[in-house]
Amino acid sequence: MFVLWVIIFTCILVLAFGNTFLLKITLILLIVEQVVFFFIIKNKDKKIQKLKKLMEIGKKITSNIKLKNLLKDIMEITKKETEAEASSLYLLDEEHNELWFEVALGEKGDQVKEIRLKVGEGIAGWVAQEGKALNLNDVNNDTRFKREIGEKICFKQRAMLTVPVKFKDRTVGVLQLINKVNNGNFDEEDQELLEGLSSQIAISIDNAKLYEGLRELFISIIRSLANAIDARDPYTKGHSIRVANLSTLIGKKMGLTEERLELLEYMGILHDIGKIGISDEILIKPGKLENDEFQIMKSHPKIGADILNSVNLLKEIVSGVQYHHEQYDGSGYIMGLKGDEIPLEARIIAIADTYDAMTSDRPYREGLEHSAAIDEIKEVSGTQLDPQIVSVFFKVMEEKNSKAVR
Ligand SMILES: [Fe+2]
Repeated sequence: MFVLWVIIFTCILVLAFGNTFLLKITLILLIVEQVVFFFIIKNKDKKIQKLKKLMEIGKKITSNIKLKNLLKDIMEITKKETEAEASSLYLLDEEHNELWFEVALGEKGDQVKEIRLKVGEGIAGWVAQEGKALNLNDVNNDTRFKREIGEKICFKQRAMLTVPVKFKDRTVGVLQLINKVNNGNFDEEDQELLEGLSSQIAISIDNAKLYEGLRELFISIIRSLANAIDARDPYTKGHSIRVANLSTLIGKKMGLTEERLELLEYMGILHDIGKIGISDEILIKPGKLENDEFQIMKSHPKIGADILNSVNLLKEIVSGVQYHHEQYDGSGYIMGLKGDEIPLEARIIAIADTYDAMTSDRPYREGLEHSAAIDEIKEVSGTQLDPQIVSVFFKVMEEKNSKAVR
């Protein structure tokens, strides 16, 4: 701005006195101003680009709620962005004052996961203790720090950029980038990027841990519920968990996503939750049920669905519970749905449920041998059960049995 006023003033003088010296000065000032202006814009542009990058990476990171996936993403993204050969993310175990790995990538991942570092020990320990970043170009010739992980897993380390992962003054972990590609060194820009991401990473890790805690609590509650259902009838002890496990194996073989598998597991565990509403006289009757008793028994999928529908967190798993007694040819209950009208998860649970019921003892009959149950399932494939899923079930059982023989 100052330069602009000088130019205007000089122009007035040139116009008034025709002084060429002043004209030259004006031109020089004009050029200087343009150069300064160019650098200011360039610098601003660079800052905007950096901010954009930080926001993009932050968005990718914070969109993940599962701790293991989140940690993997953080390591992969920071490794790519800083052009590092490897990236490690230590978590701080506050109780023992140690750093450890929840997730370690690569071939040596399992070995790395066994390692625990005391806070203050080695480079990562120093960074955790001091809460400051450390950028070392030649780790091998730095005598200040004991070499930690690299030596233990025979990974040649050279350059190392280590930053604390912290929110305000609370350290959650330590992020370490190892060896810049092409033998380069990590620079200020890499350090600024990681430091800029540090608080977002820390908050995301805290959130994911919180989610994990809630999830564990949720699973233990539904497992207790399932045990409570099974405990009413000594003949069905462990039935719900076995159905859940088998259903999950079938779902996995069918390539269901991790999220769907998780829901399928809950559906399997709770598929008979509606039996809570069935009286003991019917539920644990030693002999076969009379027709009117069977009609009452048939209401358990509906009772189960009503229970789950009343709990917000459980609504997602209603379909597997409500329709697990539908049959492929439409002859099942409670709706008489046919083929693909029956939700996939319910068709999977129906197979696992049938197999487990066949192979379990009942007061009025002994459980079938595995091979006899397989024969019966073949019989009802296409009528009672979805034939495509039955073939997946057979593959799962073959693999299970061959593992058991080995
Ligand atoms: Fe059932």
